[in-house]
Amino acid sequence: MDKQAFDARYETYNRAVEAYLDGLFCKETAWKDLYESMRYSLLAGGKRIRPVLTLEFARLGGMDWRKALPVACALELVHTYSLIHDDLPCMDDDDLRRGKPTNHKVFGETMAVLAGDALQPEAYRLILTAPDLSAERRAACALILATASGADGMVGGQVLDTLHEPKTEPELRQVHQLKTSAMISAACRMGCAAAGTGEELQQAAAEYARQLGLAFQIRDDMLDVVGDEQVFGKPIGSDAEEGKITFVNILGLAGCDAAVLDCTERAKAAIENVEGREFLCRMADQLAERKR
Ligand code: IPE
Ligand code: IPE
Ligand code: MG
Ligand code: MG
Ligand code: MG
Repeated sequence: MDKQAFDARYETYNRAVEAYLDGLFCKETAWKDLYESMRYSLLAGGKRIRPVLTLEFARLGGMDWRKALPVACALELVHTYSLIHDDLPCMDDDDLRRGKPTNHKVFGETMAVLAGDALQPEAYRLILTAPDLSAERRAACALILATASGADGMVGGQVLDTLHEPKTEPELRQVHQLKTSAMISAACRMGCAAAGTGEELQQAAAEYARQLGLAFQIRDDMLDVVGDEQVFGKPIGSDAEEGKITFVNILGLAGCDAAVLDCTERAKAAIENVEGREFLCRMADQLAERKR
């Protein structure tokens, strides 16, 4: 698949995701300031890699990918909540996200906490009311998301990251596995679950995502050191300021580059036997070199 075809498909998915998200939380209510805060972060222009992965795996599973939009966007709601809370003063204490002031900088800490709170159950509401999915497939998607974002997934990883001071490479790998790979894996597996695919594609999706997630977070750690704030959309040097040890401290920048490439090759190898895998391979390659 050449770059033009990849970009065109990504853009098609991206546009559908943006349109779906833009339709949420628009009612006239007495608490529409909550809606405003949720929409501020939701529509701030994330890369949307997770919903794109969900839609691509739904397509690979033989489904009309548009039917998987509610579950793909549900995951983006949970991801967005995790970013709002991650930026709070009690967490990473960051002022810039997706190129804009962080949620609590605009709406205050109380509203930022509440916007994150609301995004979580709203995500499950989207899954449980997805019009084109059977009750069984809705339940399968909800279980994947709950597990990936919960105590033994993303939140567990955030606890290790912010409270346990991980220092060694195995410790950092575990943090990245939980805080980042788990949600990327959920994205891929929810696409499979929405399409009702067999065990084989699910397994390939899980291993692809595990490696992709590790590469993604190592790259994120690198960009926190050498990124361009304008392009990255987040403050540079935030990890060091918080006193965090990251892969950059352990492997150095060249070592991180090599680790990202190694994980990227492993991700691609995991889907070697998946028919129509070209989009996923190019996605892995592009993310390895991403600047934002
Ligand atoms: C940021 O994720 C959090 C990490 C796991 C590093 P993304 O880099 O996907 O953020 P957005 O959604 O594009 O803003
Ligand atoms: C956070 O990792 C991952 C989440 C679960 C939100 P980081 O703290 O490195 O993410 P950024 O750099 O703030 O996006
Ligand atoms: Mg963090
Ligand atoms: Mg952070
Ligand atoms: Mg980071």
